[in-house]
Amino acid sequence: MFTLTTILLLSPLPLSVVALPHPDANATRALVPRAVATMSAPQLNAYTPYTQFARAAYCDSSTLKDWSCGKACEANPDFQVNTAGGNGNSIQNYFVGYWPSKNTVVVAHEGTDPTAFESVLTDVKLLQRSLDSTLFPGAPSSVTVHDGFANEHALTATAILAAVKNLLSSHSSAGVVVIGHSLGGALAELDALYLTLNLPSGTKISGVTYGTPRVGNAAWSTYFDSQVTNFTRVNNRDDFIPILPGRSLGYEHVAQEVHILGTDSAIVCPGAEDTTDAQCTTSAVPNIFEGNILDHLGPYQGVWIGTIFCT
Ligand SMILES: *[C@@H]1O[C@H](CO)[C@@H](O)[C@H](O)[C@H]1NC(C)=O
Ligand SMILES: *[C@@H]1O[C@H](CO)[C@@H](O)[C@H](O)[C@H]1NC(C)=O
Repeated sequence: MFTLTTILLLSPLPLSVVALPHPDANATRALVPRAVATMSAPQLNAYTPYTQFARAAYCDSSTLKDWSCGKACEANPDFQVNTAGGNGNSIQNYFVGYWPSKNTVVVAHEGTDPTAFESVLTDVKLLQRSLDSTLFPGAPSSVTVHDGFANEHALTATAILAAVKNLLSSHSSAGVVVIGHSLGGALAELDALYLTLNLPSGTKISGVTYGTPRVGNAAWSTYFDSQVTNFTRVNNRDDFIPILPGRSLGYEHVAQEVHILGTDSAIVCPGAEDTTDAQCTTSAVPNIFEGNILDHLGPYQGVWIGTIFCT
């Protein structure tokens, strides 16, 4: 299982490196000035159904197959599961289904769990690598992503694509939204591009992720943002997972963060990652010592995410 420990180990040298100043953004990509906006409580509350899907992904897959996972499932009562897979161990849990109230297909991935310390790390490299050209046709070879995330993504990619295609054939006007927390957010990010490159153009693909680590290099973020135009990373307070792996190690986030600052309080940080606004995570959590790992679990506007919150 890919746990928090894994992420920390996979994040090359977080202790020494993330404490360094951020490299000048010129070195990576053009700096687009932010227009940071304050969110209203209703705007923030609109994310709650997505947060509940991210939470549900941590539930036992047997309870996902019939959408009986308790409060996380009950929060989206009309959801129709099509496929629930993974084993919560070597393959992260995921589910795919149709959400009538938003006329969208939902793909959700389980993430890392700080309470699960029985993690097994096998043969996971720290390196970035180019995207698999079979899974990501047309992606430039300069686009590189975290090797471990790419491996994990490949384990479920084709099953997810098949399920999504199946659902889109019976709900032809539906969009697709990918959701996940922690590692699940990284997998959802990879899925957002993967589905965009493998579904008919015009398919409305969006994403909402929580506490997502950086996935790839600056070329990744530039290419991703050119292909996936509706994607939001929700980060909570002083969670430091989103600042890992460090920018100085050649990682760069894709566009659009929602940074939760407190109850009913959040800001939108649009555009490419930069340090121009002190309230966006990149500046607000400059290194892991100024972060708080408990914020990784929540509360995301009242909702906690992780295995122990799957009730
Ligand atoms: C970054 O770009 C700005 C504007 O183009 C330029 O003035 C500045 O010198 C550059 N900084 C570095 C370190 O290259
Ligand atoms: C962006 O995606 C979200 C989540 O799927 C959706 O609610 C919203 O309507 C989308 N926005 C646009 C402009 O398509």
